[in-house]
Amino acid sequence: MSGALLSVRDLRVSLPSARGPVDAVRGIDLDLARGRTLGLIGESGCGKSMTALALMGLLPDAARVAGSVRFDGQELIGLDDAMMCRLRGRRIAMVFQEPMTALDPLQPLWRTVSEPLRVHRGLDARTARAEALRLLDRVQLPQAAQRLDARPHQLSGGQRQRVMIATALACGPELLIADEPTTALDATLQREILALIGTLIADSGMALLLISHDLDLMARSVERVMVMYGGTVVEEGPGAQVLAAPAHPYTRGLVGARPRLGAPRGMRLATIPGRVPALGEWPAGCPFADRCGWVADACRAGLPAHVSVGAAHSARCIRVEALPPGLRQAQPDPSTGSGRTVLPRSS
Ligand SMILES: Nc1ncnc2c1ncn2[C@@H]1O[C@H](COP(=O)(O)OP(=O)(O)O)[C@@H](O)[C@H]1O
Ligand code: SF4
Ligand SMILES: [Mg+2]
Repeated sequence: MSGALLSVRDLRVSLPSARGPVDAVRGIDLDLARGRTLGLIGESGCGKSMTALALMGLLPDAARVAGSVRFDGQELIGLDDAMMCRLRGRRIAMVFQEPMTALDPLQPLWRTVSEPLRVHRGLDARTARAEALRLLDRVQLPQAAQRLDARPHQLSGGQRQRVMIATALACGPELLIADEPTTALDATLQREILALIGTLIADSGMALLLISHDLDLMARSVERVMVMYGGTVVEEGPGAQVLAAPAHPYTRGLVGARPRLGAPRGMRLATIPGRVPALGEWPAGCPFADRCGWVADACRAGLPAHVSVGAAHSARCIRVEALPPGLRQAQPDPSTGSGRTVLPRSS
C-alpha cells in the first residue's frame, strides 16, 4: 500500500536458545495508514509482543532483527538508538499490558505523564504539570487535579492504565501500539479502556496497532485483524469478517473456543487441541500442523502461502479451499484421529 504510515516487510526476530538462534517472528508483512486500526491476535507465545517490540526498537539485547520497518518513509531497522529515541514517545507510542511494571513507582503522576513532553519538547515543570492535568482529564482519570502528586500504587489497575495511555498520548503520536492493554483488567474495565482508546483514536487521527489474545474484543475495536501463529500471520482480513467467517483452521479454533453469552448451561467450551509449541519447537511447514484436524502430508512440506478467501481476506493454509465453509463440523483430533468437534457441545 503506498502512503502507509507504517510499512513492514519480511520482519524477522531471532532469539538465542540452547540450540542456537531460533526465529520468534518469521516474516511479518503489514501496512497501516494514518488514522486506521489494525489488530494482531493469537494465543500467548505466538510472537505478537516480539513483533511490537521490534517496531519500537525495544527488543531484548540478545535478539536479532531483520527485514524492513518503514515509518513515514524512514527505515527503522538499523536506526541508531538516539534517532529511535527521538521517534519513540513522540511520533510512536506504546501502551503495555501491565502498567504497574511500566510506571515508575516513585514518580508522582504528573511527572510520569509529562515525561515525554519534558524529554521531547523541553517543557518547564510548571507547564508540564498543567499539560499532565490536561492529559489525565482527557483519559477521564477521576479527580485528576487532586491526583497529580499521587504515586502509581495509590491507583486501581484501570486508573493506572489510563495514566499509561495519557503518557503515550502526551506528544500527540501518529502511531499508538497497544500490547494487551486490557488483559490485566476485569471485563467492565476492559470495555471502558477500549472505548476510551477508540474515542482517542477517532479524535486524534492516530493509527492504532492493537495486540490481544481476545478475538471478541479485537473484532469490535479494529478494522482489520491479523491472526498470528508460530511467528507468522496465518489469516488476515476485515475484523468482522474474520470473526464471522474464519477460514484458517487455527482461527476457526479460536472462534470456536470463545465463551458465548446465552449458551445453554452445561455447555462445554471447545478448545484447540494441544498447546502452542515453545520457541524452536515449531513443526516444519505449516506451524499449525501438529494441532490441526485437517493436516495432510503436504502441509509439512513448506510454509503455506497466503490464499485469498474473500475481499482483502486471506489465509495461509494449503487446504483452505477444501475445508467445510462453516465452523460446525467434526474436526478429527490430530493426536488420536478420533472425531471431536471444534464447537461448544453439550456434556
Ligand atoms: N526475552 C526472551 N528471550 C527468549 N525467548 C523469549 C523472550 N521473550 C519471549 N520469548 C519467546 O518468544 C516467543 C514469542 O513470544 P512473544 O512475542 O512474547 O509472544 P506473545 O506476545 O504472542 O505471547 C515465545 O516462545 C516466548 O517464550
Ligand atoms: S496447511 Fe494443513 S496443517 Fe496447516 S492449517 Fe491448513 S490444513 Fe491445517
Ligand atoms: Mg505478548
